[in-house]
Amino acid sequence: MPVQSPSTVISEVLLTEQQIQRRVRELGAAISADYVDLEPVLVGVLRGVVLFMADLMRAIPIPFSIDFLSITSYGAQAGPGQVRLLKDLETSIEGRHVLFVEDMVDTGLTLHTLLRMLRARDPASLHVCTLFDKPRLRLVKLPLRYVGFELPDRYVVGYGLDYRQRYRNLPFVGVLAAQVLLPNGVGAEGESS
Ligand code: PRP
Repeated sequence: MPVQSPSTVISEVLLTEQQIQRRVRELGAAISADYVDLEPVLVGVLRGVVLFMADLMRAIPIPFSIDFLSITSYGAQAGPGQVRLLKDLETSIEGRHVLFVEDMVDTGLTLHTLLRMLRARDPASLHVCTLFDKPRLRLVKLPLRYVGFELPDRYVVGYGLDYRQRYRNLPFVGVLAAQVLLPNGVGAEGESS
């Protein structure tokens, strides 16, 4: 069975497991204080958010529910940020306090599109919590109520972030080693599924 060794895949660890877990607990405490008695619905976009969502949920002791969206890009021709829903919410968010949970905001175009879509469903409130933020890549201005960490503009993987669907399971966040990230975008270890 092939095993991915972090030492050959990661050139530099940016955030340790302990740093991430501590920050997630802080975010959970802040969210719990702000949403006490509001029973929010936490909405995540698959797939990168699953690790963060799972840990964040356990850091929020107040009543809340969760739901997920799944999207795919239409591709460059359709215009930046244009997404197609693969899976819609199973919950009506009309009149609910919605906290949109993201693993990463880069350009912000995906989030911009999804927030517009959710706003049209008349939630009582709509705010964003992202664990990772790359503000230097932002193309649209977005209100981010909770931000875990700002990251530099480098190719990072781990804690939900992938390269060709790999490395999401790493408990820390690190910079992908140059030998893995080849110029043509093909992983040196071969194609992922
Ligand atoms: C990531 C992330 C956001 C989006 C942010 O998802 O979860 O949804 O990219 O990018 P943007 O701010 O430039 O629009 P990705 O497409 O990598 O899918 P994944 O969650 O399945 O990894």
